[in-house]
Amino acid sequence: MKGIILAGGSGTRLRPLTGALSKQLLPVYDKPMIYYPLSVLMLAGIRDIQIITSKAHLEMFRSLLGDGSRIGISVDYAEQEEPRGIAEAFLIGEEHIGDSPVALILGDNVFHGPGFSSVLATSGARLDGCELFGYPVKDPRRYGVAEIDAEGLLVSLEEKPVKPRSHLAVTGLYFYDNGVVDIARRLTPSARGELEITDVNKVYLEQGRARMTELGRGFAWLDMGTHSSLLQAGQYVQLLEQRQGVRISCIEEIALRMGFISPEQCHELGHELKSSSYGTYLMDVAEGYVAGPAA
Ligand code: DAU
Repeated sequence: MKGIILAGGSGTRLRPLTGALSKQLLPVYDKPMIYYPLSVLMLAGIRDIQIITSKAHLEMFRSLLGDGSRIGISVDYAEQEEPRGIAEAFLIGEEHIGDSPVALILGDNVFHGPGFSSVLATSGARLDGCELFGYPVKDPRRYGVAEIDAEGLLVSLEEKPVKPRSHLAVTGLYFYDNGVVDIARRLTPSARGELEITDVNKVYLEQGRARMTELGRGFAWLDMGTHSSLLQAGQYVQLLEQRQGVRISCIEEIALRMGFISPEQCHELGHELKSSSYGTYLMDVAEGYVAGPAA
């Protein structure tokens, strides 16, 4: 499966933080925001990833992550000229996707929870159409909102409804079969002039091929669209990391645990950052001093 991280948009709600910087490069406690969605794709076993962002920010992402080879993956970059909708990612990424299924993740979403890599593996293995990931929220009106049946098949889907039919928000992680590129090609822009991801999902819903995996109470799903939610995400990461002594969404550690790099490579990456606690953590991980996640 190929991966796409959509990291464009204008970040207007986060100004002036985003005056000179991409939103998805802002710090979330100890690492840039993009590390969090990148970790999710890596945990899903995806090693071929395209980052889509605006022209102004593309080189910043490239200088952060390069071609990905240092962490055993392949990263390339593509430009979205204007924020013309989340579903435009499939048109921009058409060549990258090729004949494969694809996972799309929004660059401002954090996911964290027990057994997440097996959840991703199960959803990936049963993919036939699209797989969405749902999360119960108190105020669903800010999101795509879904209803599902007992088997996890999607029954209804609405974008930012005034009167939501459930509390199940559609998160910013989506798995699709290769047909998504054709679906995106046939979309008409919405009233706000965007190719809406919810319209893509509705096509799969009508075909009876849209499923949803519910992320339960033990999971954290955070998006970072406002100053408060950005700070809260950072505080969440800080709290767990300091309490447990492990790092959340540490891409080098995930690369090691997924077998993308060797302990020696991980150690070397840590050594390069040895004046920061992040670097010493990587060396500890490489030397086996940090316990892996509970199975
Ligand atoms: O976060 C989950 C929600 O994401 C879903 O529940 C909604 O169904 C989905 O439409 C989307 O809603 P948002 O209101 O969060 O979408 P927004 O337009 O804010 O875009 C989300 C991120 O994607 C944001 O960080 C910017 C980026 N983006 C967005 C657009 C429209 C792009 O990179 N390019 C774009 O053209």
